[in-house]
Amino acid sequence: MRTHYCGHINESLIDQPIILCGWVHRRRDHGGLIFLDLRDREGQVQVVFNPEHAASFKIAETVRNEYVIQIHGTVKHRPEGTVNEKLPTGRVEVISDTLHVLNVAEPQPFRIDEYTEVGEDIRLQYRFLDLRRPEMADRMRFRSRMNHIIRDVLVQQHFLEIETPFLTKSTPEGARDYLVPSRVNINHFYALPQSPQIFKQILMASGMDRYYQIVRCFRDEDLRADRQPEFTQLDMEMSFVDETDIQNLVEDMMRHLFMTLLNIALPNPFPRMTYAEAIQRFGCDRPDLRIPLELIDIADLLQDVEFKVFAAPARDPGSRVVALKLPQGSTLSRKEIDDYTQLVSLYGAKGLAYIKVNDMEAGAEGLQSPILKFLPDTVVKDILIRTKAQNGDLIFFGADKAKIVNEAMSALRIKLGQDRQLINKDDWRLVWVVDFPMFEWDEREQRWQSLHHPFTAPSINNPELLAENPGAAISRAYDLVLNGTELGGGSIRIHDAALQRAVFKILGIDDAEADEKFGHLLSAFKYGCPPHGGIAFGLDRIAMLMTGSSSIRDVIAFPKTQSASCPLTHAPGPVSTAQLLELGLILKKSNTQNEKKEN
Ligand code: AMO
Ligand code: AMP
Repeated sequence: MRTHYCGHINESLIDQPIILCGWVHRRRDHGGLIFLDLRDREGQVQVVFNPEHAASFKIAETVRNEYVIQIHGTVKHRPEGTVNEKLPTGRVEVISDTLHVLNVAEPQPFRIDEYTEVGEDIRLQYRFLDLRRPEMADRMRFRSRMNHIIRDVLVQQHFLEIETPFLTKSTPEGARDYLVPSRVNINHFYALPQSPQIFKQILMASGMDRYYQIVRCFRDEDLRADRQPEFTQLDMEMSFVDETDIQNLVEDMMRHLFMTLLNIALPNPFPRMTYAEAIQRFGCDRPDLRIPLELIDIADLLQDVEFKVFAAPARDPGSRVVALKLPQGSTLSRKEIDDYTQLVSLYGAKGLAYIKVNDMEAGAEGLQSPILKFLPDTVVKDILIRTKAQNGDLIFFGADKAKIVNEAMSALRIKLGQDRQLINKDDWRLVWVVDFPMFEWDEREQRWQSLHHPFTAPSINNPELLAENPGAAISRAYDLVLNGTELGGGSIRIHDAALQRAVFKILGIDDAEADEKFGHLLSAFKYGCPPHGGIAFGLDRIAMLMTGSSSIRDVIAFPKTQSASCPLTHAPGPVSTAQLLELGLILKKSNTQNEKKEN
């Protein structure tokens, strides 16, 4: 039906006859001429109709935005003074002699080129219109190229692309499962995979050596800008490797991806940071290294002060007292400080003490703070020295249980970075976070949890030592973090059934439960499983960061809303009683129905 894409028309085609198909982006009538901007996936081009071709001219007068048309014409230089250098096709236009309307379009709920006013729900409801917008089409094209490059790199590295089941058993990654009832095995359910973790390990036991898959994963968890209930992983696993083999390969792939798609040279090698250092300096294990602010421990200075808010946590090993210096922050207003206090309170902080450093020379007189009266001058002086404070700085303080201080001050650090424009948008700060603890203690449930997942190998392969002090064990896991977002995570795995059972026991999974839930993996370990390890990346997140989007929803063709629903299809929806009966399911009446009855 066509000879070219609209976006590909250029001066190399001058005087050539061409046929184009696409959507009417805009129509302008100008002194006897009609101009149509014709648009397709690859871009737009200006098409001109003049009254010499009366039939087409007449049709051109009737077309509206988003009509689908086909035109025949000849490529010409634009007349002098009408060149549009901003448009790739802006030096040429197509003089058309024939126009066919292939389909008409009703007036759109929003204009394709003026979308900012439109709420996301409407954009998602009419996603087919939203995706016609050039920036959305660009993002879809970007993702397609990204997948292509990844496949090229991995095929060259002898990886096999192997598909794993969606209808499967639970794979623990820390979220709730999406369950699918089985019709033929009544009262039994499949779980959609949170990741292909167990299958990829079994593929290593199967001798596949190097596996990858660009695969959908399903997690029923609270949604955020970088979390969807279904999302795409680049999932990889390799046999006979250690951490550096995997990290080197992944670094090469990422450097290639950034160079090819964005012409950005990433460092070689990527920097590494231990989990302990990340928590100490930034309060979180995915630090945004673009922000030049750090938490500074000051508990040792405060153990003997009378101010209980600081002294009690300073003496408690499970607590932290930190300072966070904001250079030139003394200009912050009362209202701004109140807002930051409100922010940290969301993480459980009971307050946000601060000192404004107006004039270092003037002693206490030169400082402004609600806590000065509670602290001896010598202590204040030591704090100023430790934080290397300068005139004009502001120092915030956090004192509480370590978890609260870390979360609150890390959130404050990021907010300050954004509010004070401390983030250079052209900076790409990657970091491998390594040496994670194997387990963390869950206060609420009073038991150990895996920091990654239960299949991660500990750095000491001794089940007895591990059981003796689970809190001290370090794992062979690594995360790749970019600008404060966790892009991916992986580890060297356990490949020995006894060690795997020991880890399960620490997590409260006894042998019987382990056999019932993970018997297939334990069995694979028994018959000659090679040492292996791998990693998985969130492809949506990589695409989000690389395209400068603010949410992964913008790089997913058909994403779900914050409430995990789809405004386009209206999923999830009710099902018929017949379907339920077939599946052996009876629905509990919802509360609202019960309430209605009671009223
Ligand atoms: P993990 O759970 O860290 O590891 O997931 C790997 C990466 O997937 C992305 N990701 C998500 N992206 C969007 N929405 C979500 N809800 C979501 N959850 C995770 C993140 C994350 O870094 N099996 C292990 C990997 C391994 O050990 O090899 C796993 O799934 O970018
Ligand atoms: P208070 O004595 O509770 O009025 O607190 C005095 C100052 O310390 C106020 O500026 C509070 O915001 C601050 N503050 C209180 N609790 C904490 C805390 N846990 N961490 C940091 N600052 C706090």
